[in-house]
Amino acid sequence: MSIYSKKVFLVFCILFFVPEFSVRADAPDPVRRKNGMVVSASNLASKVGLQVLKKGGNAVDAAVAVGFALAVTYPSAGNIGGGGFMVIHLKDGKNITIDYREKAPINAASEMYFDEKGSVDTNKIQEGVLSSGVPGSVAGLIYALEKYGTLKLADVIQPAINLAEIGFPLEYRLAQSFKSYLDYFKKYESSLKIFSKNGLPYLEGEIFKQPDLAFTLKQIKEKGRDSFYKGKVAELIVQQSKKLGGIITLEDLENYQAVERQAITGSYKEFEVVSMGPPSAGGIGLIQLLNVLENLNFSKAEWGSSKYIHVLVEAMKYVYADRSVHLGDEDFYPVPKGWLLSKRYSKEIFGKISDEAIASEKVFAGNPKLYKESEETTHYSVYDGQGNAVSTTTTINSGYGSKVVVDGAGFLLNNEMDDFSVQPGFANQFGLIGSKANSIEPGKRMLSSMTPTIILKDGFPYLIAGSPGGSTILTVVLQVILNCINFKMDIQEAINQPRFHHQWLPDQIDYEEFGMAVDVIDNLVKRGHKIGQIKSLGRVEGILIDIENNIIFGATDPRGFGSAEGY
Ligand code: DON
Repeated sequence: MSIYSKKVFLVFCILFFVPEFSVRADAPDPVRRKNGMVVSASNLASKVGLQVLKKGGNAVDAAVAVGFALAVTYPSAGNIGGGGFMVIHLKDGKNITIDYREKAPINAASEMYFDEKGSVDTNKIQEGVLSSGVPGSVAGLIYALEKYGTLKLADVIQPAINLAEIGFPLEYRLAQSFKSYLDYFKKYESSLKIFSKNGLPYLEGEIFKQPDLAFTLKQIKEKGRDSFYKGKVAELIVQQSKKLGGIITLEDLENYQAVERQAITGSYKEFEVVSMGPPSAGGIGLIQLLNVLENLNFSKAEWGSSKYIHVLVEAMKYVYADRSVHLGDEDFYPVPKGWLLSKRYSKEIFGKISDEAIASEKVFAGNPKLYKESEETTHYSVYDGQGNAVSTTTTINSGYGSKVVVDGAGFLLNNEMDDFSVQPGFANQFGLIGSKANSIEPGKRMLSSMTPTIILKDGFPYLIAGSPGGSTILTVVLQVILNCINFKMDIQEAINQPRFHHQWLPDQIDYEEFGMAVDVIDNLVKRGHKIGQIKSLGRVEGILIDIENNIIFGATDPRGFGSAEGY
């Protein structure tokens, strides 16, 4: 071992293997700390963030370090080949959102996803390089760091480089995940090379090294964002895309910019809600739902009752109907935000909710002209104890995105083009339909459901949360917020509770396995609901701050295998 690699190895050991006092994430109590907290879907990535906080970095520094680390330790969703949204609350009271969602390539058109008969070919829009949007993660993370962080890129990216270069022992669920996708990887030589040992599955505990990814991360460390969008890495992306019939060009990459957008804000009771606006449908949908539900007060005893589920589900139908018509990339389509977010419109929705389920076919998106008034994504939450909070959701869309690794660069490209509405009324992989607002246009960002959220109480961060789960993200985040605010659950309880989901179309309530008692189901059926079952809904990574007592609570979702790390 050279002196250099010994040093790197030592740093790695110190960083990751020195035992710390830590409550296990699956324990009934949330992790409780005083100075800072990082919660992500990967314990190695959470630990990277924690080390950055301990070194004096702020929440943005830590979040950016976690973002790069997740690209290494959680490759099914953590990424540099995808995009995301970062919602930041700064200690001076400012709310900021950074949009680094992928964009349609300049040469993109709906027709390229149709077969000879004019029907949508889901293979083309959901897998392979034609399904990839122009990646935004590297631009977004570096933008956030340069504008709102305090550390150098070299410092926050180095832990990710170490993890890629030296490798890390594969935990059981990650090894299983690689194995379950082996047939996909076999279709793409460059992917098989990374996620298998010459075609054989990795086993639990084996060291997983990613030298090509380490090369890419080092390029970023040395040459900044240009290395990815103009330099060697850009060339490798275009080469891979061309080789497999894709359309991403050097010009697409060179033109990509992350954008700072105004946060979407609203209120729920005495709380302020800060979330992501278009091209995410999440923030608007969340505030619409909270506005509707503010008209009601549920007692603790009513949690999980058929009445509670019924009211939430009815509100969800209207919100998802609005999404299908009114939401898209605001750079291309005028989203009627003021109207959608108004308490007046939500009151009208509330007024339509009766004791009986309304059939989804009778629910239509509202008409803004009637009013004059205005397996896979991942989430991580960071709080630095100084009043700075970061809520980030990032994705390559499906598990392992397009399934295509950029040869030589070691990272997966997304399959985000499926989040567009390729044809009016055609349901994407999450069953979502859309219209002109979310049609494919060159350079446009596809609509997202990601809902990274920060809730403020008296102007201070109270709750930081978000989730993966495609179309279900919004309803998952909503239920965790209601569990904390209305039902006074601690953050771990709030996350652990069984959840349900309705998205207007298909017209059914999906509940998690073992998550709904049979008499509750019977009562919902009596009200006219159709019921479906789903294995699990979302994976929330959350932080709750008790500002009066100076306690930071962190909780990872037992549905996943992440961790909450604090000090
Ligand atoms: O942006 C979106 O809404 C989707 N691409 C998110 C995908 C997702 O959450 C998949 N994870 N389970």
